Amino acid sequence: MSQKPALLGGKPVRTRCFPPWPIFGRTEEHGLVRTLCSGKWGRLDGEEVAKFESRFAAMHGCKHGVGMVNGTVSLRIALLAAGIGAEDEVIVPPYTFFSTASAVVEANAVPVFTDIDLDTFNLGCKAVEAVVTPRTRAIIPVHFAGQPADMARIMAIARKRKLVVIEDAAHAHGASYMNRPAGSLGHMGSFSFQSSKNLTAGEGGIIITNDDRLAESCRSIHNCGRIPSGVWYEHHVISGNYRLGEFQGAILNCQLDRLERQTRTRDRNGQYLASRIVELPGIHPQKRGADCTRHSYHLFMLRIDGEAFGVPRGAVVRALEAEGIPCSGGYGLSLHHQPLFRNKAFGPYLPKAREKLDYDKTRCPNSDLICREQCVWLEQNMLLGSRNDMDDIARAFEKIHENREVLKAWSRKREREVR
Ligand SMILES: Cc1ncc(COP(=O)(O)O)c(C=O)c1O
Repeated sequence: MSQKPALLGGKPVRTRCFPPWPIFGRTEEHGLVRTLCSGKWGRLDGEEVAKFESRFAAMHGCKHGVGMVNGTVSLRIALLAAGIGAEDEVIVPPYTFFSTASAVVEANAVPVFTDIDLDTFNLGCKAVEAVVTPRTRAIIPVHFAGQPADMARIMAIARKRKLVVIEDAAHAHGASYMNRPAGSLGHMGSFSFQSSKNLTAGEGGIIITNDDRLAESCRSIHNCGRIPSGVWYEHHVISGNYRLGEFQGAILNCQLDRLERQTRTRDRNGQYLASRIVELPGIHPQKRGADCTRHSYHLFMLRIDGEAFGVPRGAVVRALEAEGIPCSGGYGLSLHHQPLFRNKAFGPYLPKAREKLDYDKTRCPNSDLICREQCVWLEQNMLLGSRNDMDDIARAFEKIHENREVLKAWSRKREREVR
């Protein structure tokens, strides 16, 4: 007989916490103290960031790494380094964090939102081909949740149309596509080290590339327009100070030592969890592409078809939380529906193009559907748990499904009360 759901007063599946995030220890402490005592706290004085840049680039088979203050600035600098601006068009997905598109506007280019695939949650390649125009200059595929986008097809489109590809790999530390590291597959790869990320220093970012010219340009733009052969007070392009600091470099060097093991654990647990819940009606975990050789599971994502499952997404999220499984519905709306884009509140950017732009006309039904009623996110730290932890998550889904009738009734009653 099924047990009463915790949301309706039953005993929860679990009361124990999942692994915390971030994970750190003595090595981080020593790294920070060493940096403190060195007195070399800035990028231009110390060695930590330089060491991290080389290690991170090498791990991706790239010649260059340029550390940045965050993964928003790194996207913008990558666009500027590639010469994109002057109201060029840049293809981006609508199901991503704000920065993927805000960075485009802040490079004075036009984000063109292109729908995602409903199975993988990554840019749909047919949709990309359909929106390329003579003004298109770049594509920013996001490896959403840590699963690499279909890079072979994206690069084929880019070659044919002479487009620049900047991978937004903010979720994809340690992920791989056809056994090649995510972030090394396009012309440049951009990563974030913000608090929630699988590799973190609280804040931070990096651009990696194999292109000497792009690397030099990124380095110059992130360092007040200086050039390697120039002196300190010599500035060649309009830019700013976007350098990563040495304390963050010290932490990143320690966190990088942990990444491989953590990524293996997340990938193993993510695949196991997906295999456990995929059998339930209406449950669609993010589909793993055949070319995904490693998923970094920054998020474990799934779609719930409320009709088929028997309980709508909102009630499932509430019920999972009551069972001791932290989760959310993720983004509440596609990025192009944000007031920023609807109102074209672009500040000094896009002075001419904005007149013709109307983001209310953009159609991305897949993204809208998962935002509005289907998506569920579990965060990466949960996947650092044990096999038993994954079984608990699966058990909670099963328990909710077994109790679908009472939970559906609860949800209907609640809806009536809210109205
Ligand atoms: C997909 C994506 N791109 C870019 C960013 C921006 O990174 P940051 O927060 O380091 O600026 C984030 C998240 O934070 C992200 O999730």
